[in-house]
Amino acid sequence: MKHEIVEKHLGLMVVLILVVISWGGLAQIVPLFFHEATTEPVEGLRPYPPLVLEGRDIYIREGCHVCHTQMVRPLRAETERYGHYSVAGEYVYEHPFLWGSKRTGPDLARVGGRYSDEWHRAHLYNPRDVVPESNMPAYPWLFERIVTGEHTAAKMRALAKVGVPYTEEEIARAAEPFAKGDVREVDALIAYLQQLGTHLRKAQ
Ligand code: HEC
Repeated sequence: MKHEIVEKHLGLMVVLILVVISWGGLAQIVPLFFHEATTEPVEGLRPYPPLVLEGRDIYIREGCHVCHTQMVRPLRAETERYGHYSVAGEYVYEHPFLWGSKRTGPDLARVGGRYSDEWHRAHLYNPRDVVPESNMPAYPWLFERIVTGEHTAAKMRALAKVGVPYTEEEIARAAEPFAKGDVREVDALIAYLQQLGTHLRKAQ
């Protein structure tokens, strides 16, 4: 019996198991690369403007993604708390993804527009001033440091290389918002937070 041959030859069985699992995996993964819903940006999604892009880098530098996810799962408990579940088309310009995996704090995928800029300023300066039981760290240095924008164009150029559709004009003007030297890191970070998850809302 052919089956007996497979069962009695461990090496052959291992190889065949790998073939079966790989095939199953590929059958699930490969179509996603061609599926419109996963490769097409949601309507109105634009690459991050310079200020927001710098804010995102501060978010990464400060490790906000270690305590906060940016992915609302399609479960009732989540959509009632955070809003519409996240869709793939919202993330096509994200490099790297900031989905995260641990929620010490709430998910932030839809936090844009939920609070005023002033609330964010107070909260980032000392979370306990607005949420007494909070165990989120304070970030007072964000209020002192200036964003120079000297590397913004290079960052945009790098993103353009991996498919983010920045125009030459946008890249040439990357440093403009920072020219006066009055943009603090907290301003950039809040600009980033305030647009999170808003594109899908606009598209609907
Ligand atoms: C040690 C974990 C931790 C880190 C790191 C952290 N947070 Fe938080 N964050 C929390 C917790 C817990 C809460 C809920 C209590 C509160 O609102 O302060 C929270 C709440 C928030 C909220 C309010 C969300 C809502 O829907 O009410 C925002 C916005 C936020 N954090 C932004 C940030 C940003 C930006 C950073 C990085 C500069 C950051 N957090 C870093 C733990 C963290």
